[in-house]
Amino acid sequence: MSKIKIDLERKIGNVDRRIYSGFIEHLGRCIYGGIYEENSPLSDEHGFRKDVMDAVRPLRMPLLRWPGGNFVSGYHWTDGIGPKEERPRRIELAWHTEESNRFGIDEFIEYCRTIGTEPYICVNMGTGTLDEAQAWVEYCNGTGNTYWANLRRQNGHEEPYNVVYWGLGNEMYGRWQIGMLSAEDYVKKAIEFAKVMQWTDPNIQFISCGLNGWSDWDRIVLEGLASFVRYHSIHIYTGSEDYYSNVFSAHQAERALRNSQAMIDIVRYEQNIEHPIHIAYDEWNIWYRMREADTRLEEKYSLADALAVASYLNSFIRHCNTVKIANLAQLVNVIAPIFTNEQGLFLQTIYHPLRLFSEHMLETALDVFVDSETYTLSPEQEVSPWPHRVGDLGPFKMLDVTVTCDTSERELAIAVVNRDRDHAHTATIQLTDPATLTGVVAYEVNGKSPEVINSFEQPHAVNVQEHRLDLEGQNINY
Ligand code: AHR
Repeated sequence: MSKIKIDLERKIGNVDRRIYSGFIEHLGRCIYGGIYEENSPLSDEHGFRKDVMDAVRPLRMPLLRWPGGNFVSGYHWTDGIGPKEERPRRIELAWHTEESNRFGIDEFIEYCRTIGTEPYICVNMGTGTLDEAQAWVEYCNGTGNTYWANLRRQNGHEEPYNVVYWGLGNEMYGRWQIGMLSAEDYVKKAIEFAKVMQWTDPNIQFISCGLNGWSDWDRIVLEGLASFVRYHSIHIYTGSEDYYSNVFSAHQAERALRNSQAMIDIVRYEQNIEHPIHIAYDEWNIWYRMREADTRLEEKYSLADALAVASYLNSFIRHCNTVKIANLAQLVNVIAPIFTNEQGLFLQTIYHPLRLFSEHMLETALDVFVDSETYTLSPEQEVSPWPHRVGDLGPFKMLDVTVTCDTSERELAIAVVNRDRDHAHTATIQLTDPATLTGVVAYEVNGKSPEVINSFEQPHAVNVQEHRLDLEGQNINY
């Protein structure tokens, strides 16, 4: 029997709800055919798929990042404004396709408002210019009698959009990126972008382009941009055909967060930086099957992947003092929790932990004691299309647990991920404080086997079941 001990006095810190944020990119069917489908009977007057919005809203995503991703490094945002029939159709070099530009900045802001999320824009530091980035801020946030602010008004949007979050380029370290840079060149360029953008609107906040949180790139970028940025980004995808390697791969986030926190601490100390710098875990997910551009990255997620996603969220909660923003990549169809066709949609397995965490986990993370069986990954099991290994972080507890409480300490939310492929585990949950427990509900994400996926034919193969629990004094047995 496993044991989980909870002490309300052992607080880690505040869990920022922005760790439940999302990301949409002009890639495959994420936007066109995903969130936006003109002339579909399922869409509203803006072309937004209503069934998709109904599925997105329960995820309660505080922020939505757009327009890329690799796409942004060749994207000229001015192509996406004004009458739709007059917008240019362009060749799209990141994903080798064509871009109609029928969804642009005005549609993005409208979408954010409609689903109740805040926009986060990543600017083009590949083919994009300083002028373009400056103009984008002015178009969105300008209040004066100036060209770009007036153009926004002319396009029907009198009030400024007040976009706070601005990413300084996407994965500028990568060979696959249009306009790849060395870390030193990126810093030089990003400083100039940040200057003109901030001079246009002093209220905006920047996210620097980071790698995995422990690389030389991260160090050089943090050293160069610390005085300009509030957030440093990390992009890591993980996943493996091997069950255990897959479910434990989420712990890579903990390496990234521990190391990036150390780098941030050193840079802030050495440069006397007073403002806080936190991590924006800008792109994260399980992704190991559909990695070629021509597959449109339409990954179908298994129950095992849902467990890994839950462990990712647990990692963010454990490191809540470091990570304040995390964007699941992506939202619809492309490595996504929601999957559409022209007739409707189904919720992928990973949708369920995302919704449960966002809906139920509370404001304060507690440092929980867990006693459970462990598992050691062997090097042979570490098969993954991604270069990083995770086995050195083990042995891993079969039960991955986080606990959160509300500010009045009257409510607890506990996330328990059983990663044992073959066995159920019984756990006793003990509270160290005397308390009368009432109204304990368990939400269980489960299915027939770890391989099972949801599909149009079997949309509920992995689903959430709700149980009311019996109590024994101060203990809960489950
Ligand atoms: O999310 C898919 C891609 O993964 C993004 O375009 C890019 O930023 C990352 O490499």
